[in-house]
Amino acid sequence: MIHRDIEQVLYTEEELRQRVKELGGQITADYAGRMPMLVSVLRGSYIFMADLTRSINLDVTVDFMVVSSYGAGTVSSGQVEIKKDLSDSIEGRDLIIVEDILDSGNTLYYLLDVLKARKPASIRLCTLMDKPERRTKPITADYVGFTIPDAFIVGYGLDYDEKYRNLPYVGVLKPSVYEK
Ligand code: PRP
Repeated sequence: MIHRDIEQVLYTEEELRQRVKELGGQITADYAGRMPMLVSVLRGSYIFMADLTRSINLDVTVDFMVVSSYGAGTVSSGQVEIKKDLSDSIEGRDLIIVEDILDSGNTLYYLLDVLKARKPASIRLCTLMDKPERRTKPITADYVGFTIPDAFIVGYGLDYDEKYRNLPYVGVLKPSVYEK
C-alpha cells in the first residue's frame, strides 16, 4: 500500500489534469505556426510529459534525456550526469524542456549550457512543480504548473528512493519514511 506513506494529498488527479491542460493550451497559443520539440528530462517527468504532449494541439516532436544528480537522498549534490542523451539533433529547433520539478536549479543550469551549445533556435523551460525558495542557481521556468513550498513531495512521476512515481496524485511524504 503506497498510499499509507502519504501525509497529505497536495494536488489531486483532477487538479493535475486541469492544470496540465492549461499549460498545454498556453504552449499551443505561444507556438502557433511552429513545431516545438519537447525534451523530457527523465525519469521524473515521464507522466507529466505524456499528459502535457496530449494537451498540445500542434505538431510537436518528442525526445528524451536521462539525467541524474549524483548521490541519493533528498538533497541534490550539484553534480549532474547525462546517462542517456537525446536521439535527435536540436539545431534550429524550438525546444521546450519538460521537468517534473525545479528545485535548486542545478540540473537545468547544467543542462541549458549543454543544450545551448548545440544551437537550437530557442529554449524554454516547462516545469510542473517549482520550489523557488530552494533555488541556488539563477534559473526561472517559462511555464510553471504549481509553485510549492519546501515539502518532500512524491507521485505523478516524482520519487523517493525510486518509489511512489506511480501515485496518480502529488502528495507529501510522511517524514517517518525518509527519517528511517
Ligand atoms: C529531479 C527532477 C529534476 C531535478 C531537480 O531529478 O526530476 O531533474 O531533480 O532538482 P534540481 O533543481 O535541484 O537540480 P532526480 O535527479 O531526482 O532524478 P529523477 O528525474 O530520475 O527522479
